[in-house]
Amino acid sequence: MRGLTTEDLAAIALDLVGWSELPPDSAIYVPGRGIRRVLVGIDIGTAELLLARQLGCDAVVAHHPVGMRHRMAPVYRRHVELMIAHGIPREAAEAAVRERMEDLETSGHSDNYDHVISVARLLNIPFLNLHAPCDEAGRRILQGVIDETLARNPHARLQEIVEALGQLSEFQKAETPIWIAMGEPDAPAGKVVMVHGALTNGGYAVARTYFEHGIDTVAYIHIAPGELSRLRREGRGQLLITGHIASDSVGINPWIAELEARGMEVIRISGILGHFDPRNRRFLKRA
Ligand SMILES: [Fe+2]
Ligand SMILES: [Fe+2]
Repeated sequence: MRGLTTEDLAAIALDLVGWSELPPDSAIYVPGRGIRRVLVGIDIGTAELLLARQLGCDAVVAHHPVGMRHRMAPVYRRHVELMIAHGIPREAAEAAVRERMEDLETSGHSDNYDHVISVARLLNIPFLNLHAPCDEAGRRILQGVIDETLARNPHARLQEIVEALGQLSEFQKAETPIWIAMGEPDAPAGKVVMVHGALTNGGYAVARTYFEHGIDTVAYIHIAPGELSRLRREGRGQLLITGHIASDSVGINPWIAELEARGMEVIRISGILGHFDPRNRRFLKRA
């Protein structure tokens, strides 16, 4: 094979979800071409860049953004679109993200956004990260599995949703089990929204807003302990936590499968678990 460019690697991720440009949480830091062997990890730091050189890789791809937190607030805003798509009035959706967007803008100013990237430049190793496109692919797959479970049995209990998601290879390999953080396993799941693909989980404010507008169960891939305590104190709604690393893998694996189909050699590190099941391709086309 002639090898791919960093732009090709990004375009393959965008194609998975039908997007036309990289969102601000994803970027090509060091462009390159002729890429045949790539190191892929959920988190990449300076050590992993050196490791890639040692392993003879032509490029390194991280899932999580590398520095650049000051650019991320617009990606968190995707929560607003997700909420509106699930019937929440725009005003309530906007209110649910306001405080966290301000926090993101403020905390972004403290980051050393150049640390890892400066090392990649000096090593002259092609380097990029792909975040929201993969998370959106993961969201569509996870929501697709949930929706099909509820279509088969509209009275499905929370435990049945957990079991259906648990069939995915990523969760079978996971150290963290899918967790019913709020609710009883035998309770009806009701309306379930997989809230993922908007930079990070929506914490207390976004989950509460779903619960206030007719959603029975929110699924996050992770949540901060303080945010969970606040939700539990209110005692409203059901919350599933699917697990960070396995859930990120669900969205990264379809992209890796595309690379391997093109003859690329992919070396996985830093938490990429399981593999893409091509039968789940049907979910990727559903926005
Ligand atoms: Fe992710
Ligand atoms: Fe993540």
